[in-house]
Amino acid sequence: MSSLLHSCLRKALADPDIALDLGTANTRLYARGQGIIAEEPSIVRMSTDTGRIEEVGVSAAFSIKDKQHALVSPLRAGVVADVKATTALLTPLLRRSRRMGILKPRVLVCAPTDACEEERAALIEATRSAGASAVAIAPEPLAAAIGGGMDVASPHAQMIVDIGDGVTDIAVIRLGSLVATDAVRLACSDLTHAVCDLAATRYDVKLYQNEAERLVRKIGATRQQNLSASYIAAGDDSRTGTLRRVNIYGHEIAAALNPVLKDIIAAVGAALRNLPPEIACEVIESGIRLTGGGACLPGMTALIADETNITVKPVREPMRAVINGARQMLAVGEVTNLWLHV
Ligand SMILES: Nc1ncnc2c1ncn2[C@@H]1O[C@H](COP(=O)(O)OP(=O)(O)OP(=O)(O)O)[C@@H](O)[C@H]1O
Ligand SMILES: [Mg+2]
Repeated sequence: MSSLLHSCLRKALADPDIALDLGTANTRLYARGQGIIAEEPSIVRMSTDTGRIEEVGVSAAFSIKDKQHALVSPLRAGVVADVKATTALLTPLLRRSRRMGILKPRVLVCAPTDACEEERAALIEATRSAGASAVAIAPEPLAAAIGGGMDVASPHAQMIVDIGDGVTDIAVIRLGSLVATDAVRLACSDLTHAVCDLAATRYDVKLYQNEAERLVRKIGATRQQNLSASYIAAGDDSRTGTLRRVNIYGHEIAAALNPVLKDIIAAVGAALRNLPPEIACEVIESGIRLTGGGACLPGMTALIADETNITVKPVREPMRAVINGARQMLAVGEVTNLWLHV
């Protein structure tokens, strides 16, 4: 059967193709012809007695906390850590795109560039079990560059740094493909943990995750302003378990965040040093583009620019760049037939 006829038949009989950004903190889905149909936290609520998953995404995040349930993150450091929980998260989200098709949808899903074979297999397995008929895996930073408005076809090498929740993915793109990649499993969640550690050791409080994230977003990589101000944050008293509010100074938060920021910068520096000289020169000329939640942190672009001496700018819509790029890649998938039937 000609590929054109096959493609027409598929369009008539199948549910729409889906692009998926399955992130450590956030999951986003785009369905062809429908737009972005899901933007949900990557979280499931599991019964501690039976192990049954009872809520996923937004409804899990806003469910009432009790001792009989635990909130579980299906992904860790950008990759699937629990196939069953990931399947449970994706199944209802994929169902949202259903349009009475007799064939299941094909799903283009993004993965960090350093995901190993086993981690890719877990991603394919979870996507298949959630209802995909075919899966294609795209490199996350390439999708982010396309969705973030970079001219990826340029013959001039450009660097993109995706600072997500669990992984910082660094890639150099030239003529539409990745010419160098580097990743560290260190990103915004490590900044959140650093603030939680600070509150636990200095104030004997187990900060609530959303409170710690709020402080990270307030201070980020800021060097000067706001550091003398103090911020009230809530958590459970480590001894009594009761709610307690603490006053934490901006400079304390900045000091806690500093080692993680240093490691992220060091990874960018190492990626630059590992480039062949002619590519490094092109990157120095074209600058670095930032994406992911980390690109939204105050002071992040300035910090990376100061440390590398290269111009740094965020891409368009940093939090949605991956899904916006993945949706554009779906069209290419049609032509190049990159689908793996599962
Ligand atoms: N302004 C902001 N809005 C939302 N999240 C932000 C903001 N600034 C920083 N963050 C942090 O960004 C992270 C989420 O970013 P993003 O959605 O890019 O991660 P992800 O794609 O889920 O993770 P990964 O790609 O590492 O698997 C969270 O840790 C969040 O606290
Ligand atoms: Mg991401």
